[in-house]
Amino acid sequence: MSRITYVNGRYVSHREAAVHIEDRGYQFADGVYEVCEVRGGRLVDERRHVARLQRSLSELRIPLPMSLSALSVVLHETVRRNRVSEGIVYLQVTRGVARRDFAFPTPGGRPSVVVTARTLDLASNDKIAAQGMAVVTVQDNRWERVDIKSVSLLPNVLAKQAARDRGAREAWFVDRDGRVTEGASSNAWIVSADGKVITRPAERGILRGITRTVLLDAIKAKGLVLEERPFTVAEAYAASEAFVTSASQIVMPVTRIDDRPVGAGTPGTVTLALRAAFHRHAEFS
Ligand code: PDD
Repeated sequence: MSRITYVNGRYVSHREAAVHIEDRGYQFADGVYEVCEVRGGRLVDERRHVARLQRSLSELRIPLPMSLSALSVVLHETVRRNRVSEGIVYLQVTRGVARRDFAFPTPGGRPSVVVTARTLDLASNDKIAAQGMAVVTVQDNRWERVDIKSVSLLPNVLAKQAARDRGAREAWFVDRDGRVTEGASSNAWIVSADGKVITRPAERGILRGITRTVLLDAIKAKGLVLEERPFTVAEAYAASEAFVTSASQIVMPVTRIDDRPVGAGTPGTVTLALRAAFHRHAEFS
């Protein structure tokens, strides 16, 4: 079956899907995106992802070129046309095509919208979850507005490659005070020796992950103690468990940080319980 992609009002063959070379997404990374999990053919937490998209767009003064109901139809239709049961749907909105000038074009052009969907291998994700994964720490050299889900991801790309080069799956960014901000494409969490679940507050320095937000409900429902505060790399080394959250990985155990085992070096019980509970707290549409 050939893949179908939505580009600016049309469903086209994925192989031929294209935007113009003067799209500001291509020229300046002037755009935003969302990644939403698909499970059983349904979107997970679409409402929250779309709300975050609207926020990202409004921070960058990019209008959404279609109604929210039309956008929802496009997201579902792209999933349906690609027969994705378990996977992700990706949505990107850029400021559109204009002659290459740094300031916003006047009059503003039409934003470009691209939606793709693809199947993920759940079994292989579960296998990674059963083993746990390694992360490495890198200096956080990103701009201050990482709360905007922008396609400007070069530091994240370099961090992820640094992780890959060191045999790890994820990089954790560390701020100037030696505190973990978040992963290159995930939020970072630890569980302390006395069982507290610790993650950085989403006010500054991180993206407010949708998986993170939903997991807060799961943590509360389990009666676990949550501490929303920055934690240091030293604390992470000493933690009994660690994990990351993102739409594509849900809750993924971290069992090595900078080549040191976390706790017993195997996925933690709190982490696995939260992974198992996650979808009971998510919304499906
Ligand atoms: N990444 N922090 C960063 C920097 C991210 O890129 C992501 C998601 C998250 C987690 O957000 P959420 O729980 O809403 O997925 C945190 C997506 C999956 C990606 O870029 O592919």
